Amino acid sequence: MPNSPIAPGTPYEGKAKILTPTATPGIWQIFFKDDATAFNAQKRGEIRGKGEINCTISSHLFQFLEHQGIPTHFVRQTAPNCMEVHALTMFALEVVVRNRAAGSLCRETGLPLGLELAPPLVEFYYKNDALGDPLLTPDRLRLLNLATPQQVQTLTEMAQQINGHLCRFFAECGILLIDFKLEFGWNDHGQVILADEISPDTCRLWLAGESDPVQRVVDKDRFRHDLGGVESAYQLVLERVLRR
Ligand code: TMP
Ligand code: ASP
Repeated sequence: MPNSPIAPGTPYEGKAKILTPTATPGIWQIFFKDDATAFNAQKRGEIRGKGEINCTISSHLFQFLEHQGIPTHFVRQTAPNCMEVHALTMFALEVVVRNRAAGSLCRETGLPLGLELAPPLVEFYYKNDALGDPLLTPDRLRLLNLATPQQVQTLTEMAQQINGHLCRFFAECGILLIDFKLEFGWNDHGQVILADEISPDTCRLWLAGESDPVQRVVDKDRFRHDLGGVESAYQLVLERVLRR
């Protein structure tokens, strides 16, 4: 088994969520906070209503993905900002899928914003705040024993499949899925399961047909770069996801 510092059994408070065990063995509760951070928590704030919006969007997307045959940790949404999930042992990895160049890819490579990437990129980052979540090479992934070669293959294939499903889903909402971050864990049977959340915090989403580079942004980049209209952008995504 790979080396993972995030083991089940202990309550855990992250930057945007709090995980606690429930009375039912193997079932945990995730409370989604309104707190927002960016740039490895150097920027902090609050996005009013974000907890409820992200929990509801994530619940909806997990159920959609389950219907497409993707195993997820989702059990049920118990309150607007609370979700019950299956307990997993988490990979210390962030799996990022990119359909167009944006964010750190543009910053680190000089590629122009919005450049279409075909095939989409699947990248692995080390989930380690102290180290600033660095991008991993395949050799470093192996060196750190963060996943077995077979698990890396499974994670890559699942990320590609999820991307296909989510691109189609958001296209039907009039939204372009630019890039997003996924987290995975494994259950007692060793099965790899999609976990965490899928929301405007963890995706870059642009309004289809909107060419204005500020108007089109309906995700956390509005908070990261002080573009204004953060709450209304999150609300717009929620409404379109629910209405689809
Ligand atoms: P990046 O361009 O900053 O590397 O981000 C790629 C995608 O991952 C983007 O959709 C935002 C998401 N993301 C997170 O969900 N959490 C993070 O900590 C970071 C850095 C990015
Ligand atoms: N969630 C990350 C943080 O606060 C980074 C980001 O989303 O930009 O550190």
